[in-house]
Amino acid sequence: MSRRKIVAGNWKMNMTPAKAVELIAVLSPVVASDDVDVVFCVPSISIIPAVAAVKGTKIAIGAQNMYMADSGAFTGEISAPMLVDAGVSYVIIGHSERREYFAESDVMVNQKVLKAFEYGLTPIICCGETLTQREQGITIDFVRQQIKIALLGVSSEQVKKAVIAYEPIWAIGTGKVATTEQAQEVCAAIRVLISELYDEAVAAAVRIQYGGSVTAETAADLFTQVDIDGGLVGGASLKPDFGKIVNY
Ligand code: PGA
Repeated sequence: MSRRKIVAGNWKMNMTPAKAVELIAVLSPVVASDDVDVVFCVPSISIIPAVAAVKGTKIAIGAQNMYMADSGAFTGEISAPMLVDAGVSYVIIGHSERREYFAESDVMVNQKVLKAFEYGLTPIICCGETLTQREQGITIDFVRQQIKIALLGVSSEQVKKAVIAYEPIWAIGTGKVATTEQAQEVCAAIRVLISELYDEAVAAAVRIQYGGSVTAETAADLFTQVDIDGGLVGGASLKPDFGKIVNY
């Protein structure tokens, strides 16, 4: 089965709402593609103007995080129903920066993934090892554990729609991209895990991205690996080069 490629830009904490609208005007024409799903994951405060700015294009807007409750006394958080109401269709869950700086655990990631599916949002579920873990030779064990926990209680119909982003932490924002062999090896291992947890058909449907210092130069080699279905792109998603990455 052929999976549709998906390239998502993770804007992180960059761009004011006004600048976000300007950047979308620059990027929209260059990222146009009939073959690739394109998502801009913008800061929450820019979601509403971003949704308006992509109207009439095929670009989808994603959030970078959400909380696992529907509403309540959780000062500073935003919920799945808020995202849906604002016109969001994707949400990054468990990015390594959230895990590291905001103490997000695997259990929280699982709760957020379940909540995203409950509201019809597509989670982009992040996983990936540290440099120490890679040097210790435990990359695949570690990533398997992250994904196993993230998917607890998730049905096969839901998993089929999920996006998983393999992002080695040592490659994020460092300019040190994983080799195509390293990226393919882990993405293949994730697909094997999905076939063990669910079945072959589910494993064949789930889309797995690579992320970590993807550039216009490296995108084509990475995204054409058999188990890599696109990318989650940070730094390079804020530049017109993002068009080259989408149209690798
Ligand atoms: P980078 O970030 O492309 O700047 O390395 C990727 C990410 O954190 O999603």
